[in-house]
Amino acid sequence: MAKAFDFVCNRQVLFGEGKIKELAGLISWHGVKKVFFAAYKGIGKDYDDAVQSLSEKGIGAYKYEIATEPDLNIINNGRDIFLKEKCDCTVALGGGSVIDTAKSINMLAANGGNVEQYQMEGKQAAKAPTLFVAIPTTAGTGAEATKTAVVTNNNNGLKKSLYHTSMIADIVILDPVLTLGLPPKTTAATGMDALSHAIESYVSLNANTFSEMFGLKAIEIINENLPKAFREPSNIDARGSMLLASYLGGQAITAGIGIAHIMAQPIGALYHVPHGDACSIFLPASMELNMPYAAKKYAKIAFALGVGKIGASDEENTKNAIKRVQDIQKEINAPSKLAPYIAATGKEADNAVMIDCIKRTTGHITCNPKPLNEALMTDIFNMCK
Ligand SMILES: NC(=O)c1ccc[n+]([C@@H]2O[C@H](COP(=O)([O-])OP(=O)(O)OC[C@H]3O[C@@H](n4cnc5c(N)ncnc54)[C@H](O)[C@@H]3O)[C@@H](O)[C@H]2O)c1
Ligand SMILES: [Fe+2]
Repeated sequence: MAKAFDFVCNRQVLFGEGKIKELAGLISWHGVKKVFFAAYKGIGKDYDDAVQSLSEKGIGAYKYEIATEPDLNIINNGRDIFLKEKCDCTVALGGGSVIDTAKSINMLAANGGNVEQYQMEGKQAAKAPTLFVAIPTTAGTGAEATKTAVVTNNNNGLKKSLYHTSMIADIVILDPVLTLGLPPKTTAATGMDALSHAIESYVSLNANTFSEMFGLKAIEIINENLPKAFREPSNIDARGSMLLASYLGGQAITAGIGIAHIMAQPIGALYHVPHGDACSIFLPASMELNMPYAAKKYAKIAFALGVGKIGASDEENTKNAIKRVQDIQKEINAPSKLAPYIAATGKEADNAVMIDCIKRTTGHITCNPKPLNEALMTDIFNMCK
């Protein structure tokens, strides 16, 4: 029998050029009066147009601008504003940082308390939050498809997730027009995040029929479109394909993160590495270390990446897959080493600090093909320093 699973899905997903224009109609149908509108700092016309169309339907908006990856203060402050302004809907228009911030605020506004209690102390959401619409403007995290928010804890410096079924976006709008202005560096980093989600979930010990289907399709699309979106930023087809692949990767990663993400999340906070860059750095090494445990699956990935050879052994095809990931990395100038980030912090690459940091955040995760232990953490850290 196929493996049992529990899959949480959005209620409605719209994809296509100009689909953001449907936002006002969609939420007015829900009787919304005032939107808590989270957006990335510096957003221009896309936000103004959306607010204009809301006001034409008699819906107000409070703009909450987000400049960095979320921390406790940004979220707790947003919760206070949401309640003071008596908002009855949350809209996120931005990358993973904006979506995770909005996702957490929406949950807190309904459930009370502060975000640290849910992140560190095991407090659970108990009440359904108000309507939540996620509109990604980067193509990478797939945060619009997940019930998870990743937050940096200002008190202990750790980057850790909080999650609940009720936190997933009710409505997702995937409009590639919103990603046309993404700078090449962000296109590259976020694209490598999406590729990591697709590959890591496909080899996860918790992979299931749903996640494998989403993951393999995402790999195929990213292979064809990430270099194109990087080279031709205004290519709407490539942008649309990446937005779709990012969404599929977000669905797939619900089957669990592997060693690349187990490292990327805490190390990102420790050495200030943007999430997508950290994923890019750890992905090829994760495949190499996992090869003896998951070669059959990496061989299938090789075919999705267009480099699988019929008749070759699974190990040979795994090596072909790793080479293709490294080639994509080079084509889009995505990073492959931590050294420049570590140097910029003025810190040393300290194995003991790294292991302690992982043990306190992602160290409990058990679905990486090669069992997670200190030796694996040390090996991958040494390969990527
Ligand atoms: N919840 C999840 O399931 C999940 C999964 C993976 C990653 N994450 C988290 O998501 C965060 C990273 O999100 P991200 O990679 O999307 O980056 P981001 O949201 O931090 O955005 C990166 C930069 O791009 C800018 N930007 C965003 N959209 C733009 C656009 N259309 N045009 C121009 N500039 C734009 C932002 O202002 C920011 O400076 C991290 O905190 C990571 O841990 C969450
Ligand atoms: Fe990620």
